[in-house]
Amino acid sequence: MKTWIVVLSLALLFAWVSPAQTPLTVPNGLPSWAFNIPDKVQPPGPEPKGIVRVPGSPIEYDAAKIAGNANPPDWFPNEHGPAPRIVKGEAGVALMACGSCHLMSGQGHPEAADIAGLPVEYFIRQMNYFKSGARKDDSRMGPIAKAVSDEDVRRSAEYYAALKPSTFVKVIETATPPKTYVNTAGRHRIPVPGGGTEPIGSRIIQVPDDPLRTQLRDPHSGYIAYVPPGSIAKGEALVKTGGSGKTIACAICHGDDLKGLGEVPRIAGMQPVYLARQLICLQNGSSAGTAAALMKKVVAKLSEEDIIAISAYVGSLPPQ
Ligand code: HEC
Ligand code: HEC
Repeated sequence: MKTWIVVLSLALLFAWVSPAQTPLTVPNGLPSWAFNIPDKVQPPGPEPKGIVRVPGSPIEYDAAKIAGNANPPDWFPNEHGPAPRIVKGEAGVALMACGSCHLMSGQGHPEAADIAGLPVEYFIRQMNYFKSGARKDDSRMGPIAKAVSDEDVRRSAEYYAALKPSTFVKVIETATPPKTYVNTAGRHRIPVPGGGTEPIGSRIIQVPDDPLRTQLRDPHSGYIAYVPPGSIAKGEALVKTGGSGKTIACAICHGDDLKGLGEVPRIAGMQPVYLARQLICLQNGSSAGTAAALMKKVVAKLSEEDIIAISAYVGSLPPQ
């Protein structure tokens, strides 16, 4: 009897953990804060059980049915167009529905990416990079891009391109953010209950406004990104002027207000920890092709502090 209880609770626990999110290592010893690697010690986190709801939605779900990556909840179906099966999941179709990590709103969780409103060509190019391994994400997008048909990639790209991003993250400068850990379920960085604060050091500490709502994939529940004092002003100078040859002013290619230009994606209002991870990955050789080669020039001379500052400033801008 006792064994069954243990087996059952383990099964419930692992229902929230995607098998595709393992193994969990930081490439080439890059800074672990940017990669949301679950901590060994796991303080208690949110544990959705039974029938669950989120504020403002009339819908309710059985927590067990929306756990995992096959059947993401669609809390606000009126806020988007008809979703392709690859995005929303469907019996017998997607083991890895895009909406489970990127949400139905596209403004995904920071260990994944905000893909709302990305240009279709850019989106498809990234899927091809993941498929070929040029852009590295061996545990998630690599295998997903290999498994998805070209037709499904196009449909998902068109679905997400049509979505309008809204402000999803608030950037706060502080020397002492809350003490956090990365929870195994969903790989979200969340505050340690009753854990007080700790020095920020040279990091971006990004946490959900409400860890339970984030775990329930509520697209209306956003994030707070804590960044070191002075980051936003320092980032603004680098972004606008290039910092006397250290980098290149971003607006030249990403458009006025960094809201995207042609095939070059919007970066304004993206989540700082995601932005920093992309800049670090580009600097360390992930991604290929002529478009990414432009970005490699942009990041070549940036220090980790510069990247944190740029990500803090860009993340603080309105996405639309
Ligand atoms: C298990 C979680 C997960 C699922 C499911 C998932 N993704 Fe992703 N996706 C990620 C992660 C993580 C990244 C960021 C990888 C990185 O850091 O480079 C990402 C990045 C992307 C990007 C690049 C975004 C950019 O701005 O460059 C695209 C495009 C994308 N995903 C599309 C998809 C599509 C289409 C699907 C469904 C077929 C999908 N994803 C399913 C986790 C996921
Ligand atoms: C010379 C043109 C150019 C400049 C200047 C430039 N970028 Fe880019 N950036 C690009 C292109 C092109 C891509 C898309 C690369 C691809 O398709 O793989 C890109 C992609 C990115 C991405 C990945 C977006 C995503 O959704 O994952 C980030 C982040 C980024 N740029 C940040 C910046 C920042 C910050 C600056 C200024 C410091 C900047 N870029 C300056 C051309 C540029």
